Order: sequence, then C-alpha cells, then structure tokens
Amino acid sequence: TEFVSANDLASLMNVSVNDVIKVCMQLGMFVSINQRLDAEAITIIADEFGYSIDFITSEDEQALEQLEEDAVEDLEERAPIVTIMGHVDHGKTSLLDYIRDANVTSGEAGGITQHIGAYKVKTESGRTVTFLDTPGHEAFTAMRARGAKVTDVVIIVVAADDSVMPQTKEAINHAQAAGVPIIIALNKIDKPAANPDKVREELAQLNILVEEWGGKYQSQEVSAKTGQGINDLLEKVLLEAELLELKANKNRNAVGTVIEAALDKGRGYVATMLVQTGTLKVGDIVLAGSHYGRVKAMTDHRGRKMKEAGPSTPVQLLGLDGAPQAGDKFLVMESEREAREIASNRSQVQREQSLRTRKHITLDEIGRRL
Ligand code: GTP
Ligand code: MG
Repeated sequence: TEFVSANDLASLMNVSVNDVIKVCMQLGMFVSINQRLDAEAITIIADEFGYSIDFITSEDEQALEQLEEDAVEDLEERAPIVTIMGHVDHGKTSLLDYIRDANVTSGEAGGITQHIGAYKVKTESGRTVTFLDTPGHEAFTAMRARGAKVTDVVIIVVAADDSVMPQTKEAINHAQAAGVPIIIALNKIDKPAANPDKVREELAQLNILVEEWGGKYQSQEVSAKTGQGINDLLEKVLLEAELLELKANKNRNAVGTVIEAALDKGRGYVATMLVQTGTLKVGDIVLAGSHYGRVKAMTDHRGRKMKEAGPSTPVQLLGLDGAPQAGDKFLVMESEREAREIASNRSQVQREQSLRTRKHITLDEIGRRL
C-alpha cells in the first residue's frame, strides 16, 4: 500500500521536497515529487528527518485485508452497487425515481441533485440492486470520483435529445479510471427531438462503441417519463453484475464507505453509509474517518427503522460524534476506547495539516507584501 507522495511527506515534516529527494538519493531511492511512497520508504525517510511515523490508517487496511481473507465458504452473493452518473438534467434522478416508484425529484430544491442519494431497490424479477444517484453539476467532480470507486457498475445517462456533454465525459473517465463496467442509458427517448444515433456517434468518438454497433458496451434506450426500456436496462445491469460474481461475508463486523453526512437539527449527526461487507447492527461501535460513535438508530431511505444492515445496504445512521467526510471508510470495532483514540488521532492530524496549510498561506502573503 502506498500512502502519501514525496511532496506531501515533505510538507508534513515542514521541509522542502528537494531535501526529501536528496535524502532519498543518498539512501539509494530515486523518487519524484509526486511519487507515492510505501510505508517502509516513509518510515526510513521520516527517520532521517528525526520523525517517527504512526500509521493510523492501519486499522482500515487490516479490516480491508480481512475482507479478502474471508473463507470461500463464508461468502454469499450480494446485491450489485450501481451508480448513476451523467450530465446535469439528463434525467439521472428521474430514472431512479421511476425505478423505485417514488418521487424524489419533486422533493429536491430546484430538482437538482445536491448530494448522493442511496437506495436499495427490488426489481420486477425479484433481484435486489443498490443504486447511488450522483449530481451532474460540474461542481461535484469529487463526488463522481467517489461514486465510481464504491460502485460495481456505472450507468451513464445521456439525454437522447441532447449531446455527450462535459460531465458525461468526466463520468466516463471516472468509471474507466476505477475499472468499473459502464452501461449507457439513452434517456428521454419519448421526446420528439430524441436522436439516439447522434449520441451513439458521439460516444463512438470517445471510444465507447455500443454493442449494436459492434462494440463492447451495452446500451439501452429509455424514458424516465414513460418507463420505456427501463426493465431492459435493469436486466442489462444484472447481466453485467452477474459476470462480476459479487460476494460478501455477512457474518462479520461491517466495513463500508460514508456516502454523505451532515448535522441535522434535532437528530444530531446523520450519516448515510454504504455497508460493503459484514452486517452493521444497532449498538455497534463505528469508526468513520476522524469520528466514532455507537450506532443509536438506523433507517432506510424512507425513514423506516432497521436493526441491522447487511452487505450492499445503504443506511442512515445516528450516533456518530461528528460528520465524517464523504468517501471516508468506516468499520466496526470491538473496543470503544480504541475507536475513540484512533478518531482523536486522526482529527489531530487533520487539525495540524490545516494549521500548516494556513501557516504557509500567511508566510506567502507576508513574503509578497515585503
Ligand atoms: P441533476 O441531478 O441536476 O444532475 O439532474 P438529473 O440528471 O438528475 O435530471 P432530473 O432527473 O432532475 O431531470 C431533469 C429534467 O428532465 C426534469 O424536468 C425531468 O422531468 C426531465 N426528464 C428526465 N427524464 C426524462 C424523460 O425520459 N423524458 C422526458 N420527456 N423528460 C425527462
Ligand atoms: Mg439528479
């Protein structure tokens, strides 16, 4: 596992990156500024500068390693996690709305998705799929990147009466970078102006050649308004997911990812978490980024109480002592004391890093004024 870059390590130690590179050369290691370093290299370099390193993420790493160590006989099939991405207003939320037969779009301010929504849905064929909705707005690049990481399959929605747009391309890039299979949904096919062939053509120019044209990407014409093609789209998603043979061990402590978190007046900190393996239970001690807490209550996206949540299940969780960042890993720990210690170590590191950044800015400004 690689941690920080040479550059990050230098700024953590408050020395110049050139000095770090020089020391590395003396030690026979040739590193570049942005090269990420492994634990051994970091320890050796830090030691040269008189620092000792605490690898406080090792808990996460251990938990994630355990993830792969599950005995084959403990693994059971799990629902695919599917992220819906695409340009703003191309119909991501509407599509998901239709799929789960509810009405979220109208409940959102201006109908524009401001966050990642997470839902577990049962298809007509009786299978379960977990969906993550992402915002198409250009300001949410990081969320699309995170969405691509936690997901098994990505649906790229393109409005057939529009074109491949900047955030369509960006979403495709994120999915490809994460190595996640892509399915194309050509939406708004009900519109008279819809021209799906034009979109297929534009996609081909990006090297996304759909199956009908001899390529490897599944695509489906759909309408989130009339429902046309949506069942076929779901079947294609399930087909793609089957090839992945997704499995998890539900009989272990939960590990997963924070989707979003915020302070809710009256309820305290509410975190939307995606359980990826194991089962999360009310009463569990959770460490999430630099926060921790005992699970007080869990609800699904409709607000119904849950006692436990297995693999591929999104939950809203109450009980954390703060709002972890979207994308933070979470895991269940046996000892509350240990969880508290790790959380507080992490917040301290964060505080120090932000202090350091601030100090840099001030020095810079003084420098310029002089
Ligand atoms: P962001 O979350 O802001 O990125 O947008 P979105 O991709 O979630 O789009 P949303 O579902 O909010 O839909 C945008 C607009 O397109 C809404 O007015 C929808 O009613 C409309 N729309 C979505 N899908 C269809 C469709 O299949 N046909 C028609 N006619 N209109 C659609
Ligand atoms: Mg939306």
